[in-house]
Amino acid sequence: MIRAIVHADLEWGIGKGNDMMFSLPKDMQFFRETTMGHTIVMGGNTLRSFPGQKPLKNRVNIVLSRGQVRDDCIIVRSYEELKNELKTRLNEEIYVIGGGEVYKELLPYCDEALVTKVEAVGGAEVFFPNLDASEEFVCVDEGEALEDNGYTIRFTRYENKAKRLL
Ligand SMILES: NC(=O)c1ccc[n+]([C@@H]2O[C@H](COP(=O)([O-])OP(=O)(O)OC[C@H]3O[C@@H](n4cnc5c(N)ncnc54)[C@H](OP(=O)(O)O)[C@@H]3O)[C@@H](O)[C@H]2O)c1
Repeated sequence: MIRAIVHADLEWGIGKGNDMMFSLPKDMQFFRETTMGHTIVMGGNTLRSFPGQKPLKNRVNIVLSRGQVRDDCIIVRSYEELKNELKTRLNEEIYVIGGGEVYKELLPYCDEALVTKVEAVGGAEVFFPNLDASEEFVCVDEGEALEDNGYTIRFTRYENKAKRLL
């Protein structure tokens, strides 16, 4: 199973200045619990946005990067290499964790997208595809409104009705 996991604002914005736009402890806890022990896939910018530019603990970190050289995560150099790596892991739970470039490329291959909707506008520079305007993705779960650090958030789940094989 391949899932995208993301939080997005009312404009489907997901980041600016190579950082998140909101600090959301409840969403962070959901992200941690959901991805823990599993395989996560990200682009080089997202890895650089983490504290100390370090991979996330207790997860297999796969990073798409042309330039980075490091031995604390699995680096792949192209989408072709990334897809081949993922093909060897189809029995694992795989989470695509960002950012904008990687979501866009991998969404067609995702079974589901776990989207935390934030009722705010953060002035994003990087966006997630608008799944409400998508022909392929259908919202199948919409949680109740929750308060998270002064923001109203909602956990939602979209299913991909036209999933492509890697
Ligand atoms: N709201 C959320 O849930 C969420 C989640 C994750 C990230 N974000 C935000 O998203 C933003 C980052 O997204 P982004 O779109 O700028 O970057 P990104 O998707 O994280 O990474 C882009 C990087 O991937 C590598 N790459 C892209 N295409 C490649 C290819 N064909 N071959 C090899 N490597 C390739 C390059 O890395 P190198 O430069 O290393 O070569 C490129 O700079 C940040 O603001 C971050 O905070 C938000």
